[in-house]
Amino acid sequence: MKVQALPLQESNRFETGSLITRMTNDVTQVQNFVMGIMRIFVKAPLLGIGSVIMAVWLDRGMAAILLATVPVVALLLYVNIRLGTPYFSRVQKALDKVNVILREFLAGVRVVKAFNRSDYEEERFFGANRELTRTTTASMRLLSVFLPFIGLVVNMGIVLLLWFGGNRILQQDFQPGKLIALVNYMVQILISLVMISNIIAVLARTKTSAARIAEVLEVEPAPTGKGTLPEEKLPDLGKIVFEGVSFSYDGALEEPVLQDVSFACREGEILGIIGPTGSGKSSLVQLLVRLYEVSQGSIRLDGKDIRAMEETALRRKVALVPQKSLLFTGTIRENILWGAEGAGEEEMVEAARKAQAHEFILQYKDGYDTLVGQGGVNLSGGQKQRVCIARALVGKPEVLILDDSTSAVDGGTEGRVLEGLLEDGRGTTILWVAQNIRTMDRAHRILVMEDGKVAGMGDREMLMACCPVYRELARSQMGRRL
Ligand SMILES: Nc1ncnc2c1ncn2[C@@H]1O[C@H](COP(=O)(O)OP(=O)(O)OP(=O)(O)O)[C@@H](O)[C@H]1O
Ligand SMILES: [Mg+2]
Repeated sequence: MKVQALPLQESNRFETGSLITRMTNDVTQVQNFVMGIMRIFVKAPLLGIGSVIMAVWLDRGMAAILLATVPVVALLLYVNIRLGTPYFSRVQKALDKVNVILREFLAGVRVVKAFNRSDYEEERFFGANRELTRTTTASMRLLSVFLPFIGLVVNMGIVLLLWFGGNRILQQDFQPGKLIALVNYMVQILISLVMISNIIAVLARTKTSAARIAEVLEVEPAPTGKGTLPEEKLPDLGKIVFEGVSFSYDGALEEPVLQDVSFACREGEILGIIGPTGSGKSSLVQLLVRLYEVSQGSIRLDGKDIRAMEETALRRKVALVPQKSLLFTGTIRENILWGAEGAGEEEMVEAARKAQAHEFILQYKDGYDTLVGQGGVNLSGGQKQRVCIARALVGKPEVLILDDSTSAVDGGTEGRVLEGLLEDGRGTTILWVAQNIRTMDRAHRILVMEDGKVAGMGDREMLMACCPVYRELARSQMGRRL
């Protein structure tokens, strides 16, 4: 689906709520239009033109009255549409806003409660609702002013017809039957005019909806499938090589998030990545699975530029456990197996064991069939993180990225997770992002990030000796013992 293919840079731009309105309400608008228009579009003009011809054929003089009212009504309808259209995009925007707020509220209901902000959120919701009510009533009010006006003009036309016709009938120079017919034609013409104007109004609205849908559809999809670069084998400097990588998020600060980052990581190495919050650790690892594209420089995996690799192949090799654990509604089994198509029971249990999740899962009555609530509400933070790690492991990746994935796990369990990862000797390369400097003791080497730049790389002793950022982190976390 298109929304899936949106580059992440772009999906940040459309709020989820807005995407939902676009996918439901806007699509329905366009659908209604296409279905409704077929009949009317042919019928209305034919009826109108037919009636005019008949009226003129019956009596030219009387038809003049009829023809005089038509432009007046047409003009009124035109003004109506002209004024009404801008309202519609406002109505749609207001609807968007209501959806955005509602979605946020529902997704964050716990935070809202915990902070006692129900009233505030309610007010925000009512505010958005009021805005929606206001714009909708405003557009309806506009309609309600114009419709009686049009009725008035039409009726005055009929009165004129009756008046002149009646006089002529009294003078015996006109037949009552003809008069009735004329009045009927008059009504018929005006009905078709109103129908046409309705079509135009709906068309205007549909245009807004269609434009909103097109806005989503027109975004260049994120590159998929075949890589964008020709494949070439470069000198094998290691499993993972970052070379002069710079990166900035679209429309974010002028200062790039990553600047000229270069490092290499050997096969089977555990590379710790540490640095103050906001130093670009998560951005760095997301580049490796191509959730975002580098702005400058290149990233190589097994000596191949990752832009030259097929995305699916890349992601089979590299598994990322994101910083925010996200579980889907379903059983734990489904959540773990989600990580690899076609993985069986054995692989699942093995992955769960390595991630130190097997034991706590078995403590549930239903074991692996325990239902995970929406977003994993019935699991603790650390349990969620371990299920997420198991999900990444089940696909047997060559490179495993743990982005602060053990932050909610106690030190002992964290150590066992690492041992679990090492024990099979498959030589998985691990990028281990963490805030805690102690976690890093188990890494072969540590990459220190600061402000999007590499501040140092090496083992603990070396960094203590020559990397001030590392020393500062160590001092702040370990207290006076250092
Ligand atoms: N989706 C995004 N859009 C725009 N800017 C972003 C986005 N994500 C992160 N940033 C910015 O990029 C910078 C680096 O963020 P990043 O998440 O990589 O830091 P981090 O080192 O992982 O921090 P933490 O330790 O808190 O997880 C920050 O200044 C942040 O404001
Ligand atoms: Mg992060």
